[in-house]
Amino acid sequence: MSADHVPLTARRNGPLSGTVRVPGDKSISIRALLLGALTVGATRVDGLLEGADVLNTAKALRALGAGIERTGDRQWLIHGVGVGGFAEPAKALDFGNSGTGCRLALGAVAGCPITATFDGDASLRSRPMQRVLDPLQRIGARTLACENGRLPLTLIGARDPIPIVFQPPVPSAQLKSATLLAGLAAPGETVVIEAEATRDHTEKMLAHFGAEVRVEALGGGRRITLRGQPELAPRPVTVPADPSSAAFPLVAALLVPGSDVILHGVMMNPLRTGLMTTLAEMGAAIEPIEMRNEGGEDVADLRIRACGLHGVEVPAARAPSMIDEYPILAVAAAFAEGTTVMRGLKELRVKESDRLAATAALLRANGVEVAIDGDDLIVRGRGRPSGGGQVTTHMDHRIAMSAIVLGLGSERPVRIDDGTFIATSFPGFVELMRSLGAELS
Ligand code: S3P
Repeated sequence: MSADHVPLTARRNGPLSGTVRVPGDKSISIRALLLGALTVGATRVDGLLEGADVLNTAKALRALGAGIERTGDRQWLIHGVGVGGFAEPAKALDFGNSGTGCRLALGAVAGCPITATFDGDASLRSRPMQRVLDPLQRIGARTLACENGRLPLTLIGARDPIPIVFQPPVPSAQLKSATLLAGLAAPGETVVIEAEATRDHTEKMLAHFGAEVRVEALGGGRRITLRGQPELAPRPVTVPADPSSAAFPLVAALLVPGSDVILHGVMMNPLRTGLMTTLAEMGAAIEPIEMRNEGGEDVADLRIRACGLHGVEVPAARAPSMIDEYPILAVAAAFAEGTTVMRGLKELRVKESDRLAATAALLRANGVEVAIDGDDLIVRGRGRPSGGGQVTTHMDHRIAMSAIVLGLGSERPVRIDDGTFIATSFPGFVELMRSLGAELS
């Protein structure tokens, strides 16, 4: 293990209790920076997630000519350069661990007549980029030095971007967003037709900044039409608490006997709440108190009380609304009575790690019976796992936090090899969990 690895051990303690707010939503934070950089003028962002993925995206946007400054605690000001206004960066843009930052920036750069090299850490270098390059090449961008459709790669933006109609071959908000951001610089209408609706933060924020965006329902999917070459006007953005981060203290509160926790201001966008739907089906006691709208998104304070869970079947159609939540759902399933079958998880193989394999390994190391059948994950819950395992996190923040939650409820402690990547999406996770009464060392 290298010297900069930070192992962590989680063990059972008393009930978790208290009121906490998890950091701002990662998807919205990255989009606020990117779209702010494409406006003409200054955009104020409140509640920005100050996690490594977002900070790496900010650094890349500065190298592309945008002005980005921190004006206070989670308060940021972005001085945009306008659509098509990015400057050629002097050196490679390093997105660290952030697939979202990298793929969305590829889209934004594809519509500018500049050349930029994109790179990231070992995890990001292993992830597929060709799926994003395909629509960007149709729009007129070209790529150089791109081996196997992986980073590092050099993108030559289109001098005269062409509007396209694109049907993503996989349900992916990143693919949709990259195409729309490239389409901003093209004349006429860029259309994305998604067979299954994915998180809609890009189209909502584009409209917020004054772009003409039409969204039509299409069975379970959507047709999104963007009119190109708008002048985006700066508008303030408020970032709600990230439901994907809330998932960890939420599931911990369900599993640790006697717990009673309130999570403040959690975003309840219906394209992000698949985990809550599933946990409710498993018998979870999650009570939304005070639903309200903040900055264009529904948010709620959630009261969570520990309770017994039972196994369920999770349909493949639900995957886009909880794509990042399967590792923590699998942990909840391990504490349930009965079998949970999670269907259609192919996309988990290309996340920050092969999350399907990593989730199965994390459970297996802690005495849980688990199987992968094609693209399905099957967990046989027996109420309370033995724990006692050592988990390899594979540079994956969500595997790290899921393993810790498992250790907070299992019979014996759970140890992870490295907690450093937790800071990509959830800085302060360890302190927040400790403030609720968790024992982490
Ligand atoms: C994200 C989309 C999802 C998700 C990622 C964030 C986004 O990825 O896994 O954490 O902000 O658009 P895909 O679009 O690849 O499914």
